[in-house]
Amino acid sequence: MKEEVFDTTSAVFHDAKNAVSELPKTRENLLPALEIFQQKLHWLPEASIEYVAGHIMLPVSEVYAIATGYSELNLLKPDITQWHVCMGVACDLAGASELATFVGDIKQIDCQFLCALAPVVVDPHEQLYGRVTTDNLREWLKK
Ligand code: FES
Repeated sequence: MKEEVFDTTSAVFHDAKNAVSELPKTRENLLPALEIFQQKLHWLPEASIEYVAGHIMLPVSEVYAIATGYSELNLLKPDITQWHVCMGVACDLAGASELATFVGDIKQIDCQFLCALAPVVVDPHEQLYGRVTTDNLREWLKK
């Protein structure tokens, strides 16, 4: 697999590493550690796999094997063109248009019934993110 260029100096990567470093170094924490990176980065770059392998003290190949077995873990960089921004009234009032303009080619969808969390963005795995800002998108796009 071709590794996408990934900035290991980003604040979000350091946040994920800090969160993982607080997990006990046991095999049972392999999946939770991967989920932390997935949640914060929206994918698992090679650097995250290597960090988890080092923390849990497992071979990188074994961590890859586990990561490939879970559909909710994404080993490929998210393609923002496969994301969607809700353009319902609440999201529009909360800045969805600004998000759509910021990204440019993001698809627009109707209300996702999470209006209290507006503006809402949906990733290719249909996970919803609320109160998304352009700073969030900027961080996600540079990964
Ligand atoms: S308007 Fe976006 S979730 Fe309802």
